[in-house]
Amino acid sequence: MKIFVPPIKCQGIKTKLVSWIKDNLSDNKFDRWIEPFMGSGVVGFNVRPHKAIFADTNIHLINFYNAVKTGEITPAIARYFLELEGMKLAKSGQKYFNEVRERFNMDFKSLDFLFLNRSCFNGMIRFNRYGKFNVPFGHKPNRFSKAYITKIVNQIDYISQAVKILDWQFVCRDFRETLNELNKNDFVYCDPPYLGRHVDYFDSWNEEDEKDLFNLLDNSNCKYILSTWHSNQYRSNKEIDKYIRQNIQTKEHFYHVGASEKNRNAMTEALISNYMLPKQKIDYTIPTGVQLQIMEPKRKYKLRK
Ligand SMILES: C[S@@+](CC[C@H](N)C(=O)[O-])C[C@H]1O[C@@H](n2cnc3c(N)ncnc32)[C@H](O)[C@@H]1O
Repeated sequence: MKIFVPPIKCQGIKTKLVSWIKDNLSDNKFDRWIEPFMGSGVVGFNVRPHKAIFADTNIHLINFYNAVKTGEITPAIARYFLELEGMKLAKSGQKYFNEVRERFNMDFKSLDFLFLNRSCFNGMIRFNRYGKFNVPFGHKPNRFSKAYITKIVNQIDYISQAVKILDWQFVCRDFRETLNELNKNDFVYCDPPYLGRHVDYFDSWNEEDEKDLFNLLDNSNCKYILSTWHSNQYRSNKEIDKYIRQNIQTKEHFYHVGASEKNRNAMTEALISNYMLPKQKIDYTIPTGVQLQIMEPKRKYKLRK
């Protein structure tokens, strides 16, 4: 399955898990797709629903997509901008990156956000406590090659075409607001920040958020999937335990810390849902030979038909 990769990247982007998530939507029919934590939007953009609400507290993500929707950013405008700014980056490197970052932190222009996101370290989005973007330069002055610009422009083109024919709304708001107005024919995909992972201006997550999310989902009258982590080689996610009435599906996933192949870490991802997920297809072994089941917390799984 060809996966569409969005123009704005973020940490925790689910590109590698999209096929698995889509498989687990089963045959559910829904009128509206709701994504309260859109991040890069990679999941919903690949589901391609007719009607959708993509929400996030990060206003810069939302502004970017609304600028594409209104035509303020078109593929041609983005190409022209990236070619021009890319040349300046090639000439002055870090100095120019810092200049754009300062400029962005004053007037928060969406094209600058795109430039920074695609040339900063690891395509991260991080804002300090004053709401200023603070990811350092990715140290590639020639980042905006012709091929790279074309790739980004095509990604923007996919969204501009989609929003012309599909009813997609991009809204900046807290997940509680989004989940408070669900209809029974909605389908919700939630991918919240992980508790205790990282904290930044738009992306902090505490026990209260965790509890509110659980209560809102547990009381919702529509179908949903919640993405979270299940376990790694050191510990398991205790937050899952409260979803006792829900179903769970797990999948092993590898991620790299740094560039070295040696630093490949196994992480078991989980999908939690309030409907019967397709039969589990999981590989119970990880390369070290440790059986994942041994690491799973003691909890009762619902019987699957
Ligand atoms: C793990 S990321 C989502 C990643 C996304 N599924 C993807 O594949 O790109 C979590 C997102 O939740 C947003 N967020 C954090 N706290 C929020 C809140 N209280 N309400 C809504 N969005 C929030 C963050 O800004 C971030 O974009």
